[in-house]
Amino acid sequence: MLVTGGLGFVGSHVCVALAEAGYDIVALDNLANARLSVLARLREIAGRRISFVRADVRDGRALAQVFRRRPVAAVLHFAGLKAVHESVAQPLEYYDTNVGGTLTLLRAMRQHDVRRLVFSSSCTVYGAPESLPLTETHPLRPANPYGRTKMIAEGLIADCAAAWPELKYALLRYFNPVGAHPSGRIGEDPLGVPNNLFPYIAQVAVGRRAKLNVWGGDYDTQDGTGVRDYIHVMDLAAGHVAALARLESQPESFTVNLGTGRGYSVLEVVKTFERVCGRPIPYEIRERRAGDLAQSWADATLAERLLGWRARYGLEDMCRDAWRWQSLNPDGYPERPVSAAETRRRRSRRRS
Ligand code: WQD
Repeated sequence: MLVTGGLGFVGSHVCVALAEAGYDIVALDNLANARLSVLARLREIAGRRISFVRADVRDGRALAQVFRRRPVAAVLHFAGLKAVHESVAQPLEYYDTNVGGTLTLLRAMRQHDVRRLVFSSSCTVYGAPESLPLTETHPLRPANPYGRTKMIAEGLIADCAAAWPELKYALLRYFNPVGAHPSGRIGEDPLGVPNNLFPYIAQVAVGRRAKLNVWGGDYDTQDGTGVRDYIHVMDLAAGHVAALARLESQPESFTVNLGTGRGYSVLEVVKTFERVCGRPIPYEIRERRAGDLAQSWADATLAERLLGWRARYGLEDMCRDAWRWQSLNPDGYPERPVSAAETRRRRSRRRS
């Protein structure tokens, strides 16, 4: 299996699940939003060798080299940028990486006859819900560049498969991935100030942030704060293994939501996290964040019917595993220890 973005938050957890399912893995990552120190932890947890290629998914030559070096049965494509608010400020970077990367990958897959693809898509393709829960047939009206890049990438994949019928694919539309592997050895470690709720709360709990800003307390929800379908990253990883198994057994393409079918408000998450970590999470209700939806949660019945998969973990499990990861790694992943050879090379460069 080739896992692009394999050292990222979701990609790394899927690598563990794939290894446990007995697959051999090549993780490809450009380390723009991941640290190399994840690799050693992956190998520790997975208990088997995971090959690593440091490359950008937009580098066609690097992809061709991977496909030439060994037979690749399928690609799981996570490599991409995923911060909704950042996409508004940097649309070209998002289109280049998320759309350009998918285009380059499809071209390389076609050239090397790699016929199975699992794509990391997103519920943001739906935009503001016309009705809830969100089903896969809901109109696609993404409201930001991030969501539009995911919708366009889905279209690229579908059009490529129409022209090359041997290509079979799974489009997995994630809701809000949170939590961490129960070992606490891998988890969510955003660079800089976290955009997302869970890592921000975890950093408040561990003392790295003073308080949580709750963006909006006047939504039309039970407590006025935003409601989302949080899904444990281990449930998400199991969904990928199930999707791959279906592509192997019944070669037809499909699109499914990966969510729990249940929404939780910001304040419900705060209260649950406090109970789990045994510490107060100070917060302040602030103005709404531009682009935020009031409510979003999945109709997850199609994934259950097609994949025999459903989310098993609840909010308490998500908070418990997110807290274990954060409390064991207060500053996130360490920078990769610099090898002696690298140290010598850096010294000689400084002298020259
Ligand atoms: C959740 C709720 C905020 C931070 C995410 C990912 C995106 C996509 C969809 C997969 C909202 C509130 C947040 C904070 C807060 N997933 N919040 N204070 O916006 O639903 O988007 O899911 O593709 O990648 O970004 O998630 O965690 O940012 O926000 O009050 O400091 O928490 O207003 O109601 P969102 P989020």
